Amino acid sequence: MTNSDEAVQAITDAAVDSFRDTADPRLRELLQGLVRHLHGYVKEVRPTLEEWEYAVEFLTAVGQKCDPTRQEFILLSDVLGVSMLVETLNEQGGGTESTVLGPFHVVESPERVSGDSIDLMGVGKPCVVSVRVTSADGTPLPGASVDVWQCTEEGFYDVQQPDVQPLGNGRGLFRTDGEGRLWFRTVVPSHYPIPTDGPVGELLGATSRHPYRPAHVHFIVEAEGHRPLTTHIFVADSPYLDSDAVFAVKDSLVVGFPEVDDAEAAREYGVTAPFRRADFDIVVEPETETEPANHNQNENEKDAR
Ligand code: BEZ
Ligand code: FE
Repeated sequence: MTNSDEAVQAITDAAVDSFRDTADPRLRELLQGLVRHLHGYVKEVRPTLEEWEYAVEFLTAVGQKCDPTRQEFILLSDVLGVSMLVETLNEQGGGTESTVLGPFHVVESPERVSGDSIDLMGVGKPCVVSVRVTSADGTPLPGASVDVWQCTEEGFYDVQQPDVQPLGNGRGLFRTDGEGRLWFRTVVPSHYPIPTDGPVGELLGATSRHPYRPAHVHFIVEAEGHRPLTTHIFVADSPYLDSDAVFAVKDSLVVGFPEVDDAEAAREYGVTAPFRRADFDIVVEPETETEPANHNQNENEKDAR
């Protein structure tokens, strides 16, 4: 058979059609869309056999790099901008904007109460972060769970430095009070490089991309009857706000961490002056029965060809 357009198209059609009997219509859509777009990509860039073999080896290495504390596939999705795309397409609007989860979230953050410090090292300049959680109509949400994690002033998460930091440093699982509020003491996190000692780091190096993320604090907010929210606040004067390695910065999430040189305020929060402080109002969207917006299949077909 010659390498004619018809022969090439027949392969794509057969592969798409092979999923026609998938009982779950959503699974069918996901797989047929994947095949269409993957074939569209291959037709566009026409990899050589050696290049395709390299791609398979690369993905194998990504899988082999994964362990219980290292998720190289999430990292790959992050640096390709796919994590941010999925987050953003799943937003419904009306709430605080979302951003990537990243690979440093741990399943069980240590439970803490409002006013606690998540800085277990006790060195570094103090910072007070105050959070208020409301529903889209402005109603405060008491009892919402707020999972917080961040790196140190040196730019490392606890799990990256098990011999230096106690596990749980920079982390806390809080609940909002009767007014939907909580606050905690911490240090201002640094910008930091995403892990580069694996295949994703090789990819960045080979493409002259830097690995840095601007300084940020992560949040997962869950309130009854509301959509869970995964987001960050970004430190307003941080480097790399304009070139986050994982494309996760949204203007609405950039927050000032001004210095407060006020001894009385410092006493109130149990820190020393001067300290930095940040305030973050988080709005979560009420759950709806509506399914996430479904994409137009014809549009997808056009894109992939
Ligand atoms: C993070 O913010 O923890 C992160 C996000 C994406 C990739 C690497 C790290
Ligand atoms: Fe992070």
